[in-house]
Amino acid sequence: MSKILVFGGIGYLGKHMVRASIMMGHPTYVYGRPINPNSHPSKLELHKEFKSMGVTLIQGELSEHEKLVSIIQQIDIVICVLGAPHIMEQLKIIDAMKIAGNVKRFIPSEFGVEDERVVALPPFQDYLDKRRKIRSASIASGIPY
Ligand SMILES: NC(=O)c1ccc[n+]([C@@H]2O[C@H](COP(=O)([O-])OP(=O)(O)OC[C@H]3O[C@@H](n4cnc5c(N)ncnc54)[C@H](OP(=O)(O)O)[C@@H]3O)[C@@H](O)[C@H]2O)c1
Repeated sequence: MSKILVFGGIGYLGKHMVRASIMMGHPTYVYGRPINPNSHPSKLELHKEFKSMGVTLIQGELSEHEKLVSIIQQIDIVICVLGAPHIMEQLKIIDAMKIAGNVKRFIPSEFGVEDERVVALPPFQDYLDKRRKIRSASIASGIPY
């Protein structure tokens, strides 16, 4: 079993990743932005469900570098399912993984199309260009992805 950390685990796709990870028996962690009683009810409900399933929920911002490093140091696999507007935030996660030095596999937020096979029109091409930057940074980090 691998310790799996999911970023964006409360999201549209992420919640399925988290449920699948738990169902497969992996100790599963979700790092997400802090919630409060005024957070969207679906988000609060998902937090409750994940807690009852045994998911470890960590609340924090992606800008909290030291916190990210200390959590990632306990993890084997990082799955990132951030929404499309936030994919460049993954550079912060890659920086933290490089310092932590222990991640066995990184699965970046690239779900949807096979970038290399697509010639897109703007603004989708801009989005694919951003994803390529994340892919290059992943390769440069030396972390299997
Ligand atoms: N939805 C679709 O129809 C669809 C279709 C094709 C491909 N995809 C791909 O699937 C992947 C995930 O998409 P999704 O639709 O599941 O994403 P999503 O639900 O829109 O968002 C996922 C997570 O991103 C985090 N997030 C949102 N705003 C943020 C911010 N300002 N700063 C940092 N984090 C923020 C949130 O995590 P917290 O609130 O927990 O912090 C959220 O749960 C993307 O690569 C997307 O391109 C999605």
